[in-house]
Amino acid sequence: MKITIFGTGYVGLVTGACLADVGHDVLCMDVDQGKIEKLKNGQIPIYEPGLDNIVKHTVEAGRLSFTTDTEEAVRHGTLQFIAVGTPPDEDGSADLQYVTAVARSIGEFMEDYKVVVDKSTVPVGTGDKVRTAVRAQLDRRGLELDFDVVSNPEFLKEGAAINDFMKPDRIVVGTDSERAAELLREVYYPFNRNHDRMIFMDLRSAELTKYAANSMLATKISFMNEIANLAERLGADIEAVRRGIGSDPRIGYHFIYPGCGYGGSCFPKDVQALARTASDCGYEARLLNAVESVNYAQKHVLFDKISHYFGGDLNGKVVALWGLAFKPNTDDMREASSRTLMEDLWKAGARVQAFDPEAMEETQRIYGDQEGLTLCGTKEQALKGADVLAICTEWKEFRSPDFESIAATIREPVVFDGRNLYEPEMLDRYGLIYYAIGRGRTQ
Ligand code: UGA
Repeated sequence: MKITIFGTGYVGLVTGACLADVGHDVLCMDVDQGKIEKLKNGQIPIYEPGLDNIVKHTVEAGRLSFTTDTEEAVRHGTLQFIAVGTPPDEDGSADLQYVTAVARSIGEFMEDYKVVVDKSTVPVGTGDKVRTAVRAQLDRRGLELDFDVVSNPEFLKEGAAINDFMKPDRIVVGTDSERAAELLREVYYPFNRNHDRMIFMDLRSAELTKYAANSMLATKISFMNEIANLAERLGADIEAVRRGIGSDPRIGYHFIYPGCGYGGSCFPKDVQALARTASDCGYEARLLNAVESVNYAQKHVLFDKISHYFGGDLNGKVVALWGLAFKPNTDDMREASSRTLMEDLWKAGARVQAFDPEAMEETQRIYGDQEGLTLCGTKEQALKGADVLAICTEWKEFRSPDFESIAATIREPVVFDGRNLYEPEMLDRYGLIYYAIGRGRTQ
């Protein structure tokens, strides 16, 4: 089937590559000429395990191609996927200018029936706006062409995106058109053969499903962070509590890991946007607001612990920081807890020696020549000359470090762990003082 994808960001590129991989003829369009040139030369602008291979072989097979030409893009696919960004506006609502621009282009250049598929995370009601934008362009051209608008939200996780796309838990399709539903069924047939994973519903419900899913997951995390903070004050161990409650299948073990706050391009943005949507329709989303404010505070927790340890005076202190990406297996630092920690430390006059297995270039791009930041080539280098160690991301290579050499290298034998990677007794044995999240020692 001929498919066009607008937007070669995270969702667009993974969707395009995976659909080409199963045999569809996919054209990816982006207005960013530099990005398209790179993609044509086989350079992938994001770090996602497995993506480069799929792009390489589908391009070679002629099933995946790239363009900056909007007209060519619209003409190509019967299905027109919109996977452009919806960055938050200042008030937290999603900025839809890129989505509506694509919708207008589709109306401007389409010559036959199209299904316009919204894959970007867009507020409830956007499908109707997309329909209006396409229709307005057709009217302007004096054409009465048929088209349908579908919401097909994406649930993939960075770092596991290929697997999530290839083996989805569910494929949500929101539409009132049987014709569009049939085409979507055909597109997704290769991913839906053994079990029926497609869930059909109306367009607005599909749009809300995406926000509800991310907000529910963010709620679980903020809930656990709140209980962890409580556990510290009560002398309880959140890791025991986590296992204790996770064993109840109604609660489950997934997404109940406490930490130094959730980050990334989705949870923070989507929780805020849904709360904003709620207030726009006259409803105060008390729970969503609380989820957001618990997370805001949680991102400052490591700093509070470090500052308290040094009696509130961090001037001239050097903190070794392991982990900059918002989670492992990505170089993405959007809304990462590491950024809050570094910025807090700099404000307090401390210096940071940072290492991340993948996000060094990204850190350089964001913070450039920031005073008080030294980028280190290895995790060991980050320790040299540092007073203490802080950890923000649970990369595999941080799980079993050489504790003896950590204890011998840093000036004060203290580890501030925002991801609960170790057992306190283990660090005790090496003479390291261990501050984790919700594990007995408050500050
Ligand atoms: C999230 C969702 O998990 C995906 O299902 C969704 O499709 C995606 O957003 C999206 O809307 O595009 P992602 O942002 O890639 O995926 O990352 P997650 O693995 O969900 O992690 C988000 C944050 O939560 C990370 O900072 C992570 O450290 C934190 N987290 C996660 C916790 O603090 N505790 C947990 O138990 C789990």
